[in-house]
Amino acid sequence: MASRLCLFSLLIASCSLAMASDPSPLQDFCVAAPNPRVFVNGEFCKDPKLVQADDFFFRGLHLMGDTSNAVGSNVTVVTVAELPGLNTFGISMARIDFAPWGINPPHTHPRATEILTVLEGNIEVGFVTSNPENRLITKGLQKGDVFVFPQGLIHFQRNVGNGYAVAIAALSSQNPGAITIANAVFGSNPDIARDILAKAFQVDKNVVYQIQSKF
Ligand SMILES: *[C@@H]1O[C@H](CO)[C@@H](O)[C@H](O)[C@H]1NC(C)=O
Repeated sequence: MASRLCLFSLLIASCSLAMASDPSPLQDFCVAAPNPRVFVNGEFCKDPKLVQADDFFFRGLHLMGDTSNAVGSNVTVVTVAELPGLNTFGISMARIDFAPWGINPPHTHPRATEILTVLEGNIEVGFVTSNPENRLITKGLQKGDVFVFPQGLIHFQRNVGNGYAVAIAALSSQNPGAITIANAVFGSNPDIARDILAKAFQVDKNVVYQIQSKF
């Protein structure tokens, strides 16, 4: 009984480790230092003595992204790649610009929960819960509203207005990653076999071909 209890506590302990997001820093900071030959889970630390204020700094989130593309949106990210001081901190930021009626298409962040606030415009947002419910949870947001997208779930945004809209998002990873569903499924390199997608989406192979040709 005692050993079972011990095993159980061990399981609980390892679970809480497995559920953590990015690893916690074990020092004040670990500013990312580039190393082209070796890979670690995260980035190497720059010598703390050589660290400068600029390592913790990014300028440019006041600039509007170019939204003249097929979806009418543009995401400017500030992850560890743009701001080396974010290394090991489990946090990052993004600016999302929307053309009138533009969308940020369905996508997921494999490593992060996202919290978003609307700075300008009206934005319809939504996410879909996992199997088997696949429930759509959606909301119309206005300036100043805040909405959270749970880690890993497919979500989207749409500017429901004739003017430009802009939102700022914070994400719970230094490197949240983004998987845009259409691009991943229909624009993979090389292509996923057409008959697999035809069966998965229950459509004719020509429909798959038509969608693949756009990505
Ligand atoms: C987003 O905007 C930047 C800055 O204007 C531009 O360089 C980039 O090509 C745009 N990305 C897309 C997907 O339109």
